[in-house]
Amino acid sequence: MQHEISRAIWTAHTEQDTVALARQLAAWARPGALLALDGDLGAGKTRFSQAFAEAIGVKGIVNSPTFTIIKEYEGESLPFYHMDVYRLTPDEADELGLDDYFYGGGATIVEWASLIRELLPDERLELYIEHLGGESRRIALTGIGATYAGWCDALKKIGADE
Ligand SMILES: Nc1ncnc2c1ncn2[C@@H]1O[C@H](COP(=O)(O)OP(=O)(O)O)[C@@H](O)[C@H]1O
Ligand SMILES: [Mg+2]
Repeated sequence: MQHEISRAIWTAHTEQDTVALARQLAAWARPGALLALDGDLGAGKTRFSQAFAEAIGVKGIVNSPTFTIIKEYEGESLPFYHMDVYRLTPDEADELGLDDYFYGGGATIVEWASLIRELLPDERLELYIEHLGGESRRIALTGIGATYAGWCDALKKIGADE
């Protein structure tokens, strides 16, 4: 099956610009939302996730789930599932039952998502964060499926580039 695809580039000159993107996406997120993050260590995947969590009303501290792989939070508008799959082995992936999260009642962010691309649902928002020095980041978004393609199109109306 072919999925609709749309792309957008979000340029963050400051950390606050990354926060602004996360907040906007959080406002659109519904149960089953999937944001697949990639980018080198220190790019800002966890910082983005923290801003997203805060925006959906998660109270308390959102840390990098590097060692726990997955953490669940209760948000005000919906649950938040935060994954870091950098160290995930195929056996662990089976045990975790990732689909229960992806198709569950919350929004999911996966850090290092491309490492488990074949386990991800087809429809998702991919974000690739590139560190440009200082606080500058280039965030390349690919929306796969009508919902996420629509998010990219909407971002282009509020300042994202083609
Ligand atoms: N524009 C920006 N977007 C995201 N993080 C930024 C930005 N500018 C500076 N930072 C800082 O860069 C670091 C990113 O770290 P982190 O989010 O843990 O990266 P990752 O999870 O990709 O390894 C944080 O210390 C954050 O405060
Ligand atoms: Mg991280």
